[in-house]
Amino acid sequence: MPDFATTPQASAPQMLPHTHWPNFIDGYWQGGGSSVPVYNPGTGQQIATQACASATHVDRAVGAAQRCHQEGSFRHLAPVERGRLVQRMGQYLLEHLDEIANVLCLDVGKPLWEARLEVETAARYFEYYGNQAETMEGRSIPLGGQYFDFTVHEPYGVTAHIIPWNYPLEMTARSVSAALATGNTCVVKTPELDPLAVTYIARAAECVGLPAGALNILCGYGSEAGAALSAHPDIDQLVFTGSVQTGIAIATAAAQNVVPCVLELGGKSAAVVFDDADLEALVSDVRWGIYFNAGQVCSAMSRLIVHESIYDDVVSRVAEMSKSLEVGPGMAFPAHGPNMGAMISEAQRDKAEAMCQRAQQQGARLVAGGARLDRDGYFLAPTVIADVTAEMEIAQQEVFGPVVAVLKFRTEDEAIALANGTDYGLVGGVYSANINRAMRISRDIRAGQVFVNEWYAGGVETPFGGFGKSGYGREKGREALLNYVQTKNVGIAIKG
Ligand code: NAI
Ligand code: MG
Repeated sequence: MPDFATTPQASAPQMLPHTHWPNFIDGYWQGGGSSVPVYNPGTGQQIATQACASATHVDRAVGAAQRCHQEGSFRHLAPVERGRLVQRMGQYLLEHLDEIANVLCLDVGKPLWEARLEVETAARYFEYYGNQAETMEGRSIPLGGQYFDFTVHEPYGVTAHIIPWNYPLEMTARSVSAALATGNTCVVKTPELDPLAVTYIARAAECVGLPAGALNILCGYGSEAGAALSAHPDIDQLVFTGSVQTGIAIATAAAQNVVPCVLELGGKSAAVVFDDADLEALVSDVRWGIYFNAGQVCSAMSRLIVHESIYDDVVSRVAEMSKSLEVGPGMAFPAHGPNMGAMISEAQRDKAEAMCQRAQQQGARLVAGGARLDRDGYFLAPTVIADVTAEMEIAQQEVFGPVVAVLKFRTEDEAIALANGTDYGLVGGVYSANINRAMRISRDIRAGQVFVNEWYAGGVETPFGGFGKSGYGREKGREALLNYVQTKNVGIAIKG
């Protein structure tokens, strides 16, 4: 098997440190067998190959994780020691920030500055959960003088992580850091569209000295490696972020094995904008909310629900902002600025473009973008679609691209009904200077997170997850630790 550290250098223009990227199973780098072609969405060109795991590789990784768990060397570590290992993995990512950001930028197509932010946030997860490893305390339950009784939080064992392609590094860091901090072992299936950067999390594990088998990272296709992992009889817990359809398949597989799963399945999240909102701040938030990562964000601000008295003003301000964005390959944008990268694949771009066309056929009004750029790579122009009504596809279905749908409301009740009028419920927002109004909307929006006067207010520390078809379970915050532990009660009778 090729040693990862000595894999041949890629040719200079690609600026990738390796042409072929291996999987990491049971502490070994494995690069042989079939491979997945890896593309730069900013150019449409193939830039590398990634070893492709089959069901057999998945089985080997699960076996290694199970052996590591049963041996007990990792789960019996003092939590402070385990926490330090997890924290050091984050430090490893920061020490290699430039290199990893470069890889992310080329593989995912996002601006280099956005890629750098992703590496920093990934590192932050390892810091946050590493810090919390020793905070998982049980309780003592009084049963009278003849007993002592206490609870302990035990790790589930082998946790499976199926990773989406929109933030491959950050999403892996998010669940793996919490799973490791609580003493679980992990098998990660990376996204076939952009697996490369996650390799650095395996390198971090190797560098800090996690025991072999504690963290296995492999790439393969969803239909084979993903399906084999989610249905494996020896996994004890499962985390998935991605589409509703795949989420249902995964939850079904988990149900067959009676293991718990956490599902994070995207949304159609709305910002409700009142006539007393600060519109300049709002427009800046729309820029972050729908054009960051080219709108491929589960909690994107994909709907704007605007009071009729300011509707025309908001539509024209947002359209002007979106037309001012520069769009191009990620490497063109090293510094934070008004720019946007490519979508992940031709198929995702074509799907988004077709949704823009159908929105117009259904009577909506295109005020910016709506079509691909005439250049190589998978680009969709930053898009604003106005005069959207509740029943239209563009108001109901996730585009997962740089497309904001603008709707109009007159009364507060109408705004709430519109905001809650989809199958989803991931996040929501309200823009108003009136605290009571903002609180009423926050109370009545059916979503796992509500943002008042700032989209994405919160961070690694704040629990995140869906109502409705946006999924169940919570990631981030202390809540997420509870995904990875089960409670054991020990009752002790005092005899004599
Ligand atoms: P997907 O949900 O099929 O893929 C996500 C992950 O699941 C990938 O790692 C994939 O290999 C794996 N996977 C696919 N089929 C599987 C199966 N049968 N068993 C186990 N694992 C499987 O998403 P896809 O098709 O790439 O994108 C379609 C739509 O999904 C997007 O347009 C977007 O609306 C949504 N999506 C939402 C994300 C979010 O962050 N909430 C992330 C990615 C996609
Ligand atoms: Mg790629």
